[in-house]
Amino acid sequence: MKIAVLKERAEGETRVAATPETVKKFIALGAEVAVEAGAGAGASIPDAEFAAAGASVGDAAATVKGADIVLGVQGPEPGSLAGASHGAWIVAGLDPFAQRQRIDDYAKAGYEALAMELMPRITRAQSMDILSSQSNLAGYKAVIAAADAYGRAFPMMMTAAGTISAAKVFVMGVGVAGLQAIATARRLGAQVSATDVRSATREQIVSLGAKPIFVESVAGIEGEGAGGYATEMSEEYQKAQAELVSAHIAKQDIVITTALIPGRAAPRLISDAQIATMKPGSVIFDLAVAQGGNVEGSVADRETVRHGVKLIGFSNTPTHLAADTSALFARNLYNFLSAFWDKDAGRPVLDEEIGDAIRLTRGGKVVHERLLG
Ligand code: NAI
Repeated sequence: MKIAVLKERAEGETRVAATPETVKKFIALGAEVAVEAGAGAGASIPDAEFAAAGASVGDAAATVKGADIVLGVQGPEPGSLAGASHGAWIVAGLDPFAQRQRIDDYAKAGYEALAMELMPRITRAQSMDILSSQSNLAGYKAVIAAADAYGRAFPMMMTAAGTISAAKVFVMGVGVAGLQAIATARRLGAQVSATDVRSATREQIVSLGAKPIFVESVAGIEGEGAGGYATEMSEEYQKAQAELVSAHIAKQDIVITTALIPGRAAPRLISDAQIATMKPGSVIFDLAVAQGGNVEGSVADRETVRHGVKLIGFSNTPTHLAADTSALFARNLYNFLSAFWDKDAGRPVLDEEIGDAIRLTRGGKVVHERLLG
């Protein structure tokens, strides 16, 4: 059983899908691991560390030759997989709806593509959940980047020269990233408030020491729903939310937006007119900028200034802390494959619940129900 780890080739991708720690663990399971030279460079992992962990380090062709499983952060180019075993597993964040052609190519080549972002959000799969591990650190980074762009301090400071007041931070969208953004802003000493459409988040906001700001006149989403995800809200709700945000936002120094609706463009939460009510020097970090953006006028990877307010957002936030995001991503992949490792077969064998949820292709065909018909 050979596991291959290729260097990521997508523009700006600095993460790597394995670390020396996970290489050692895969070898302990009985696998052979090959890592492409330079694969860890963006995450500050030298080739020598992979080699010391027991991996063979070589060029792309040698790495992939005879591989039974190819690990990736993003989906590898089908062309780079020539020489892999017939029916090899491709295990990565495959972005199946945007990368449909690539998925078809994996099918044609006979690979079994497993999309890690489709991992069901069930208790036993929590340690395999790449969306959570990456969003968590992205929420942290959003606050750090906003703090860096802000021309003032976050905590209240009493100095001999006078007092500096605490920054007011508003977090919109309290999923995994939003919760970490609240915790990080609190640790930096800011006064934090937060909002979401899911009422279950109110308690979580309070437990992190922040103030909940909720639409009261129209009902939000009760309960955890299908996996606890938001849906598109009614016009009436959107109007009430816009009024609430308008009243609140003018008093904020920093806004972090993280709102996403699975399978749809990110909801627009802040308009240009609302930005105009904020104080000059305020900062908005739009964590959803790559999915269409929560904020009017935000542009990925470029700071823009509207009405004296700085708008920031990265196209791929996890790449901005590649050492830590790689470590967690790599563990997600190891936790997944090791949980299903069949000692007799010497390889992982998936069960139906998780296999059917993440398997995109098998036996030359696209098999995932969301990609069919
Ligand atoms: P997400 O990244 O899809 O969305 C971020 C947040 O934006 C969500 O809280 C969503 O409700 C909110 N949002 C959407 N539209 C909005 C709007 N118009 N205004 C304000 N907020 C809006 O969410 P994420 O981080 O993936 O988490 C979704 C849920 O899944 C949470 O309940 C989380 O606790 C749960 N979860 C469960 C796991 C498990 O059981 N294994 C693992 C990870 C998350």
